[in-house]
Amino acid sequence: MERTLSIIKPDGVKRNILGDIIGRFEKHGLRVAAIKKIWMSKEEAKGFYIVHKDRPFYDSLTDFMSEGPIVVMVLEGDNAIAKNREIMGATNPANAAEGTIRKDFAENVERNIVHGSDATETAAFEIGYFFSSLEIL
Ligand code: CMP
Repeated sequence: MERTLSIIKPDGVKRNILGDIIGRFEKHGLRVAAIKKIWMSKEEAKGFYIVHKDRPFYDSLTDFMSEGPIVVMVLEGDNAIAKNREIMGATNPANAAEGTIRKDFAENVERNIVHGSDATETAAFEIGYFFSSLEIL
């Protein structure tokens, strides 16, 4: 069993497609172990994406991630990190495979509907950023 952090970004929340997105995770064998809707401040978004602090898109990405509510989840299952990334599709929707969330819904490489942890260490940091152990069931 593995855990990963999943975020439905402000564009996904605005489009009212939470059920569709969560349904895709469940259909592929991932289980929601924790879930909440929050609205990050710019500073909180900057802390979450600190690994990207030197990238040219850091400011605009953190503006986007703090423009409205998001849904944060811990997904659990066999190979949850890789499976989640497969279900999401490539970061840039132009390169995303048919049937993936980003292919179906994402506008561009930044406004790409969902986020998922990319490795074990990042998953641990990202889960701990939003959830205490008492909230993961
Ligand atoms: P995410 O999986 O949340 O990880 C980092 C985010 O940065 C990514 O999804 C996109 O939202 C954003 N991102 C990545 N590459 C670019 C880019 N070239 N231009 C703008 N935003 C990007």
